Amino acid sequence: MTIKAVVFDAYGTLYDVQSVAEVTEDAFPGYGEIITQIWRIKQLEYSWLRALMRQYQDFAVVTRDSLAYTLRSLGLQHDAGTFDRIIDKYLDLDLYPDALASLEAMTDKKLAILSNGSPDMLKALVRNSGLDRVLDATISVHAKKTFKPSPEAYALIEDVLRVPPAEVLFISSNPWDACGAKAFGLNVAWIERVMPQAMALACVESETLPPLTMFKALRTQMDELGVEPDHRIHALSELPALLSSRGA
Ligand code: LAC
Repeated sequence: MTIKAVVFDAYGTLYDVQSVAEVTEDAFPGYGEIITQIWRIKQLEYSWLRALMRQYQDFAVVTRDSLAYTLRSLGLQHDAGTFDRIIDKYLDLDLYPDALASLEAMTDKKLAILSNGSPDMLKALVRNSGLDRVLDATISVHAKKTFKPSPEAYALIEDVLRVPPAEVLFISSNPWDACGAKAFGLNVAWIERVMPQAMALACVESETLPPLTMFKALRTQMDELGVEPDHRIHALSELPALLSSRGA
């Protein structure tokens, strides 16, 4: 089956969510890493809880609520200006260094994002990073008022691009997202950016587990959900070669 569309997860796949650490550290010296990790863990948790509770609020609200939880849970006082400066980084996250060139090498396919981000967040992010020049569509789950990994969210790809799941390659570095997309019926390439060997080493090297190591153990290793991605790659830059080797 020919691949006609390559669809990317946004946060953590094209955009480095860890890049908020520079602003969290600047706002709360010494707390940057713990804020960054708790915030992302809670942001995802709140999206899944809201989907299960059927109490949808868009990802901008979820992102604010999870930051509020994080600062409160760490006992950090803050004013509205500090809070907004941290949140604003979500509209201008760093791209992974190989993202733009990898997308430019695949423009013979339809290229899109499917993200839990709200339409406004994604619009700003895509424009600020220059990806608007290469993407054919930026699809937000907002139209279905639920979040990935709900099947309704992945169904939006066909609704918007008019390409059936069998002709779509979905790319995510988030293991839960790769599993959700595969369970839905998309072809999936999972980006394994953190190798288990590196995790094992990080754990023995320090007596106290740094928050980032904890995050990596929780959120970067393949999940036990009964599905496997079709492809395991280590960087976005491997995608163009993967597509040509499939004869796609
Ligand atoms: C995305 C996040 C949640 O959907 O990774 O872009």
